[in-house]
Amino acid sequence: MNSKDSRIPGFYRLSLANRQSLIASRLSMSLAQLQPLLETGGMTPEIANNTVENVIGTYALPLGVALNFCVNGVDRIVPMVVEEPSVIAAASNAARLVRLAGGFTARMLNTWMTGQVELRGVVNASESKDALEQAKAHLMAAGNSAVPNLVRRNGGVRDIAIRDLGLGTLVVHFHLECQDAMGANLVNTVAEALGAEIARIAKARLGLRILTNLCDQRRVQASCRIHVSDLADAKAVDAMAPQRKMSGEGVAQAVAEASHFAEIDPYRAATHNKGIMNGIDSVVVATGNDFRAAEAGAHAWAARDGQYRPLAHWHVDGEYLVGELEMPLALGTVGGTIRVHPIAQMALELTAVRSASDLSELAACVGLASNFSALRALATEGIQRGHMSLHARSVALAAGARTDEVDTVARALAASGAINEATARALLDELRSKAIERLP
Ligand code: MEV
Repeated sequence: MNSKDSRIPGFYRLSLANRQSLIASRLSMSLAQLQPLLETGGMTPEIANNTVENVIGTYALPLGVALNFCVNGVDRIVPMVVEEPSVIAAASNAARLVRLAGGFTARMLNTWMTGQVELRGVVNASESKDALEQAKAHLMAAGNSAVPNLVRRNGGVRDIAIRDLGLGTLVVHFHLECQDAMGANLVNTVAEALGAEIARIAKARLGLRILTNLCDQRRVQASCRIHVSDLADAKAVDAMAPQRKMSGEGVAQAVAEASHFAEIDPYRAATHNKGIMNGIDSVVVATGNDFRAAEAGAHAWAARDGQYRPLAHWHVDGEYLVGELEMPLALGTVGGTIRVHPIAQMALELTAVRSASDLSELAACVGLASNFSALRALATEGIQRGHMSLHARSVALAAGARTDEVDTVARALAASGAINEATARALLDELRSKAIERLP
C-alpha cells in the first residue's frame, strides 16, 4: 500500500485509536500531534471568538474518512464531516464499485466566479448597454486594480456581460478568475470597487454589488460507471416486490428508474439532490468551505429552466450503469476558514488535492457516490435497515453505553426493533448484569 492508496480494507473494523494512527502516518505526523486536534475538534474557543460574534464555545461534529476513491486516476482519502449515519460508509462502498470499473472522471467546465452590479432607473437601456460594452476593457482594468494580489497569482477579471431585466434595470456581470480561493471576498471587493464607475457610465442609479451564488461559470462535471455484474447481491430484494431477488442487471435497471423518477418529479428531485449534497456538504464542511454557498448554487442550478431537476442522472449502457453529475461548485483551498481551522488544513492535506478545482472535482465525485448508494438502497431493500443499525449506535451511546459496550447494545437494539433510549438503557442494564452476552 503506498501513502496515497485509498483502499484500506478493514479500516472500519480498527479501533478509533488505530484509525487515528493510520491517518497520522498518512499525514506524516505522529499520533501525539494528531490526537489532540481530533479530540478538541481543532477550533479553539479563542479562534471561534475571533471568527464570529457573541461566541460562547464551539460545536463538534463527527469527522470520518471515505475510502476507495480514485478520481482521474489519482487515489484520494476523503475527509467528511457529517452527523448522519451511513453517509460515509455508503460513499466508500460506492467508490469501491466504481473503482473496479476504472474510477471516477471529473473536470471543471470553467473556473470563474461571477459578481453582479445592479443598475436602477436606466432611462435608455440600449444606450447604457452600448456605453458599458465600449467601456469593457477600462472596467476590467479597474476591476483588476482592486485585486492586485490575485492578478499577481494569474487571476483577475476575465469578462463582462450585461443583462437587461426590463423596467429600467440592468445588471452587469463580471467574471473573475479566483484561482484557489472560493472567491466571495475577491468578487465583492471588485463589485464594490467597480459599482460607482459602472453606474456613471450607464447613467443609472447604483443598486446592489455582490457575488452570485449561482456561479454557473464555475461548474464541475463528474461521471463514473459500475459494471452491472458488480451489482449482483444475493441479498438484494426488489423494493417494489420484496419477495423477488434481484440480479445485477435488475439492480442497475432499478437505479436508472429511480433516477428517471427524479427527472419527472421535483418532489423526488429535491430528495435525490439532498442525497448528493450529503456527500458534497460533508467534504465542503471538512475542508473549511462554505456549505451554504454550495447549497444555494446547487439548487438554483437545479431549477435553472423553471422546473427543479436532479443534479445527477443514471442510465444503463450495455454492461455498465453510468452516472453523470453537473453543478456549480465554488470551493477554495486557501483563505477563509481554512486559514484559521487546523482540522480544515489537515483535511485538505489528507485529500492531497493540488488546487481548488481538484477539490471541487473530488467533492462532486463524493456527491455522485452518495447518490448511487442512496438510489441502490431505495430501489432494493430500502434505506431503513442499514440506517437503523448505525442509528442504534448513537442511541446506545446516548443511553450511556461505554465504548466497549456500544457494539453489543447497538446490535441488540437493532434486533429489538425498538431503537430508543429506554430500550437501550434496559439492554445496558442486562449487559452489565450479564443477562446478555458481550460481543467480542
Ligand atoms: C437521506 O439523507 C438521503 C436520501 O433520502 C437520498 C435519496 O432519497 O436519494 C436517502
